[in-house]
Parts: sequence; C-alpha cells; structure tokens
Amino acid sequence: MANDKPKNVVLGVSGGIACYKAVELVRLLVKEQYTVQVIMTRGAMQFVTPLTFQTLSARPVATDTFNLTQESEIGHINLADSADIFVVAPATANVIGKIAAGIADDLLSTVLMATQAPVLIAPAMNIHMYENPILQENLRKLRRIGYEILEPDEGYLACGYEGKGRLPDPEAILEQIRLQLKKKDLAGEKLIVTAGPSREPLDPIRYISNRSSGKMGYALARVAARRGAEVVLISGPTALTPPPGVKVTAVNTAAEMRRAILDEYAACTAVIMAAAVADYHPVEFSADKIKRGKGSLDVRLEPNPDILKELGRRKDGKLLIGFAAETGNLDANAEKKLREKNLDMIVANDVTKQGSGFDGDTNIATIIDRRGATHSLPLMSKDELADQIFDHLLTLRR
Ligand code: PMT
Repeated sequence: MANDKPKNVVLGVSGGIACYKAVELVRLLVKEQYTVQVIMTRGAMQFVTPLTFQTLSARPVATDTFNLTQESEIGHINLADSADIFVVAPATANVIGKIAAGIADDLLSTVLMATQAPVLIAPAMNIHMYENPILQENLRKLRRIGYEILEPDEGYLACGYEGKGRLPDPEAILEQIRLQLKKKDLAGEKLIVTAGPSREPLDPIRYISNRSSGKMGYALARVAARRGAEVVLISGPTALTPPPGVKVTAVNTAAEMRRAILDEYAACTAVIMAAAVADYHPVEFSADKIKRGKGSLDVRLEPNPDILKELGRRKDGKLLIGFAAETGNLDANAEKKLREKNLDMIVANDVTKQGSGFDGDTNIATIIDRRGATHSLPLMSKDELADQIFDHLLTLRR
C-alpha cells in the first residue's frame, strides 16, 4: 500500500469469545498501514475492553449511537461513509439475524445499514447455532444482496464442541480484506500459474528434484486472484497453503505438469510458469527400492519435455510468461530463453544472490519483454514482484 492513501477498515466486533482474534486482526491491519475504526457491541465489551482496541488502532472506539461526545467526534453516518470496507468479525448469530432482518438498534447495525462499502461478515459461534436453518437462511440472504461471508473454520470450539464455527485465523481474515480491496484490473483474465518443483522418481522412495518452495508461484496466484483473475494453480509438491479463490491441481512430475497445463490451456488467456521443472528424469523407474551395492551406481537421465517451448510453438493467442533461474549472465541467458521459447515476457532471477530466487519471501528480478523493454527491479517481496509482473502483463495487452 506504500504509495496509496491508507484504506479505512471499519471493524464491527460483536460479543463472542472470538473477540480476542479481532484484537490480533487490528494489530495486523495497522501493521499493514490500514486505518482501523472499531465499533463494539455491548456484548463485545463483556469479552474485551474498548481500551485494547483503542490502543492498537490509535483511534477512539465507537460503542454508543446516542453518546453525544462520540456522535460529534465520529458521527454514525461519517463512520459509514468513511469505510473502504466494513468487516464484522466475529459476527454472532444475533448480529447476523439483525442485519438480515434490517434491524438497526445499536451502533454496529446502524452504521452497517448506512454503509455503501463492501461488507465482509465472519460468523463465529457454537456448531448447532451455526447449523440452525434460521442462521443459514440469514446467511443466504446476506450473500444474495452481495455481502461476502467468510466460512468459519472447523475444530475445537470454546463451548466444548468440535465442528464448524471457529472464527478463521486473523491472517485469513486479513487476506480476505486485501482481496476485497484490491483493484480488479485482471478481471476477465484466466491464468494458469505453475509453482514449486517437479519430482522425478527413481524408485518408490527416492526422486530427483530441486530447491523450489513454490513461494513465487503461490504469490503470483494469490495476487492474481486478489486482482480479479480466475486462476488455476498447477503446483508441484510444496508445504504451502493454497491461496483462497484459486483452483489448485497438484502434480509431481514434469510429465504430469505438462498434462495438467494442456488440459487447461484452451480456456486460459495467459500462462505464467514460475515452477522449477526438472529438465531430466531417470530413464528407468525401479518398482522396488534400489538396494545399496558395493560399487558406484549409474543413473541414466533423459530430457523432459520443455513445456513452455511446446506452448510457444502453439501460442494460440495466449500470453506466455516464463521465469529464468540463472547463476550468471542473467540478462543474456534470459533473453535467449525468451526468444527460443517464443515468450511474451520473462522474469529473470539470479538464484545465487542473497534475497533472490529459491525459498525466501523476497526476490530480485529483471523483467524482459518481447518488445525489448528491460526493467531491473530491486529486492522486494514475492507478492510485490507478482504485482509488478501483472502490471507489466497489462502493458502487453495494450
Ligand atoms: O519456488 P521458490 O522457492 O519461490 O523459487 C522461485 C524460483 C527460483 C523457482 C522462480 O523464481 C524461478 O526462477 N522459476 C523458474 C525456474 C526454472 O525452471 O527456470 P529455467 O530457467 O530452468 O526454465 C525457464 C522456464 O522454462 C521456466 O519458466 C520453467 O518453468 C520452464 N520450463 C523449464 C523446464 C521444462 N522442462 N519445461 C519448462 O516449461
């Protein structure tokens, strides 16, 4: 958000044990430079004091429609108008019922009624309350009028039951807020994003692979979804959680990745290949574990299909974006790959540089496009680099 005016999140907190997670959510939002205006219901104040939210948000907490001091300082219509997004977390069954019935009998429900901002509701309650058909009907009604409902998580509930009803972790709510607030300039794009390594098996236990964590590809998928693209993420084995709103296809080998890409290719508008696809696989796969012998072991490798090169030959009007993982001669090697694979853009990263390439959360890249433009970018997070890549993709559409 570095160059933008800070976005204002109006956070309605209603009375449930999950209020403590709303405290952490405010901390995360402020850390990301959002301004946060908290509104608490009477019930919420039984769980957490307004002072806690006020200290973290550095703003007075709004609690009472008829308190004249608050009304003159904040004003419930001003509050509603100031919101770039209105989030209710946790949202109790009571608050959801009131919103769905159009009842505005406290500050939270009154401001919510008056806002024109997008609304995100995060229910949290006992599993039987959550499954109650009245509550479910209320949620359907809110969805129909365009409110976003964040599904609760399953797990141990504070009331002692196991099941659905937990408020999602603050990071997951934050991600939904980012998603809602992002400009949707990739709407209409159907992207195939590849991520992670491929694994080429030698026997049931061993494989040849590489150091890719998948973070670059997952950042691309996450950021594209936030900006309104439809995304299919074709992922080699990683330890990452898939971004919300993205279709994920898990693969192991380069051959499986090729198949998965070709299955989606006709419907896509662009392919972005951040995956580190193995260039070779063992000629022979041993169905039994290869036993230790006395001497050395020779493994013969044969080339994998070059997936991007194959797509570059077909093209079919799609934008093709490759990555180049290099250890020297960055620009020259990347330009060669751009030409040989008939790409529209290549993102070159020197994987020997500190903060660049494999596994970390940052990268240092140079973007080179088919028109000859070259942009050397400084160290930045993989999410920020993903934004730069999509900004550049949009220039190629003009
Ligand atoms: O996953 P991380 O830990 O976040 O690390 C990120 C990364 C370093 C893996 C990523 O930034 C990156 O550089 N990905 C490309 C790695 C790679 O395979 O580069 P390459 O120069 O060998 O291949 C060039 C391009 O051809 C790549 O887009 C690759 O996906 C593609 N390729 C390669 C081999 C092959 N058989 N088929 C392909 O399509």
